[in-house]
Order: sequence, then structure tokens, then C-alpha cells
Amino acid sequence: QQLENKLEEYELGDYEHYMLKEIFEQPNALRNCLRGRAEQREGRIVLGGLADHARDLVKARRFILTGQGTAWHAALVGDYLMEDLAKVVTEATYASEFRYRNPIVEEGTVVVAISQSGETADTLAALREAKERGAMALGLINVVGSTIARETDAGIYLHAGPEIGVASTKAFTCQLAALTMLSVYVGRKKFMGQGQTQEVIDALCAVPDQLDVVLKTSEQVRDIAAKFVDRENWLFLGRGYHYPVALEGALKLKEISYIHAEGMPAAEIKHGPIALINDGMPVVFIATQGLQYDKVISNIEVVRARGGKIIAVATEGDTNIGRYSDDVIYIPHTIEPIQPLLSVVPLQLMAYHAAVLRGCNVDKPRNLAKSVTVE
Ligand code: G6P
Repeated sequence: QQLENKLEEYELGDYEHYMLKEIFEQPNALRNCLRGRAEQREGRIVLGGLADHARDLVKARRFILTGQGTAWHAALVGDYLMEDLAKVVTEATYASEFRYRNPIVEEGTVVVAISQSGETADTLAALREAKERGAMALGLINVVGSTIARETDAGIYLHAGPEIGVASTKAFTCQLAALTMLSVYVGRKKFMGQGQTQEVIDALCAVPDQLDVVLKTSEQVRDIAAKFVDRENWLFLGRGYHYPVALEGALKLKEISYIHAEGMPAAEIKHGPIALINDGMPVVFIATQGLQYDKVISNIEVVRARGGKIIAVATEGDTNIGRYSDDVIYIPHTIEPIQPLLSVVPLQLMAYHAAVLRGCNVDKPRNLAKSVTVE
């Protein structure tokens, strides 16, 4: 039975592509990632892999989150999570840049290498450099026993299951879940109260079921993609926790549909990129309810006034957003630190459908490899 389950993980089943299968596997991948770790009833996070290092993590003065590609986007979300929840100085950095910039590693620095494969050469090199300079090394890795996993002092395996599609999807959402758990784990041992701890754990544990709801938007997302698929330039914009999600949405589209896309903080648009906007240009806004909602609406208005077509990812029940957008994809309500886990999924679906509509080879995009083992 176990072997059968294993084989099933590698087979396409009813899906046309691994990427779509893996997008739809996200609810279960997350259930596996959270199982035995996010303990809702007890209101606590249990991370067996970190138990021996708990004291060092609490004393840590600085976290450096590093990776490449999609894993770097997870690191950026992690930067917001660690500062927001664990209240510790954190920086997200490309592994390739960290490695060669003569980085400062003071006492109490923890480097967290984030990688699906655990074999990315740049990430491995950054990890080795940080360790040599005295940092404690953690890994958030999917592939058990991979090189990076073996070279870290401790870590959290993602348990996303095998990811075959070159464009990373379920590994990303599991990386976000692992980073959330790490933030709560460290935060709770410091200043985080039980009330907030419970709130985040409850929200995290609700994600798999909420993702089942988000996945139902797939056909709507395909229809939206069909409207804009001939446009060669797209923008993805978001603020706060959704800035890295915007980067990830743009990367997914580039990787598999070969459409040129840029992601950036929504506020940055007025400092130059607004010059790109022309009549009919698709601009995807992550405009979920939260602290910066009104600011996002003003950014939308600026783009719209210049002819951009607005595709908004918004919170269900938002009756306001329709007035500002050409298309709205609704996702369930959750607290802001958890929103990226939901808001990224319509963007994965958008990239997938756009690529299929353009006749691209979704699982084997040109020029890309699943794992890049050269620096
Ligand atoms: C390659 C893949 C990307 C991935 C990146 C990092 O470039 O095409 O999808 O995000 O490597 O991979 P890793 O295995 O370290 O997460």
C-alpha cells in the first residue's frame, strides 16, 4: 500500500500536466506540512527538527533567509513574517548575492537556506559561506537527504511530496507554512502572547480547506487568462505581504508562458514603471483586505486612468473592489500574515492557463531546469 501511494505521487492521474496536479495537491501538501507541528488544540507549534537548537534560536539576533527563484520569494515573505511575528531583525537575500558580497555574520546570526531540491548550487554556496563565518544554519528543504539538508545544523522538511513540474508551486506554499511556523515558534518563546499564537495557528490550520475553495476559481482564471493571453507585457502589484506574491506571480508567468511580466511593490509603480502602462495592458493587483487596502485602491486608480486593465485578487465579501476592476478573483478571508498562502494560488493558475492557451510545454519550459546545480 505504501509503495502504491508513493507511485501515485509520481503519476499524472487525471491531470494533463504535473504543474496543474501539483497546484491542486496544495491542500494535501499543506496538511502534511502542518501535521504534528501546528497543534491547534494545544495552541502551540512543535518543531522536532529544531528542538535541540531552541535556545540558540531564541537568543538569535539576526536571521538571514536565502534562496533563489521561487525560494527567494518565500524568503521575502519570511522576512515580513519574522519581523512581524517573531520581532527579530531579518533579511531576505539572494544566495548568489550573499555569497560574494563579503557578508557580515555577527554572533547570533542564523542563516536559513530555503530550497525545494536542496541541491541549488548558489544556495549551497551561500550556506557554506555563512557557516564558515560562524552562522548557525537551518534548512527549509523538500527533498529529504539532499546536499543542503545534510549540511545544515537543523531544519524543517517541507513534506510537500515530490515536485516534478519545473515551475515550483506546492513547495512554495509549504515554504510559507514552514516560515510561519518558524516565526511563531521563535516569537512564542520570546514576546508573542498565547492569544496571537492561537490566532495565527488557527488561521494556518484553516488554509488547506480554504485552498479547496480557491482552487474552484480555476475555470474563472482560465477565462480571464484567455482575454489577455495575447498581451506580451503584464504587471503584478501588491503591498506588504503581497509584494513577494506579486514577484512570484510574475515569475510563474515568465517561466512557463514566456510572457514578459514584472512584479513590484504597488507603490513603486509611480516611480517609473507607470510609463509602461498603455491601453489594455493587464495589471494584476493583489488587493485583499488589510492595513494597506485603501492605498492599493489608489494605486489601482492610477493604473486604470492610464488604460491598464485591472485583474484583482480580493477578499470574498468585498463589495467595493468591483468598481475599480475589470475582473475580480475572490479568495477567502484570513489574517494578513497568512494571506500569501491563498493569494498566490490564483496567480499560479493564471500562469498555467496562459501557458496552455499559448501552446507552451508547461512541465518542461524552454531553457529551464528543475534544479540548477551550477553557480
Ligand atoms: C530553478 C527552478 C525554480 C526554483 C529555483 C530554486 O531555477 O527553475 O523554479 O525556484 O531553481 O530551486 P530550489 O530547488 O533551490 O528551490
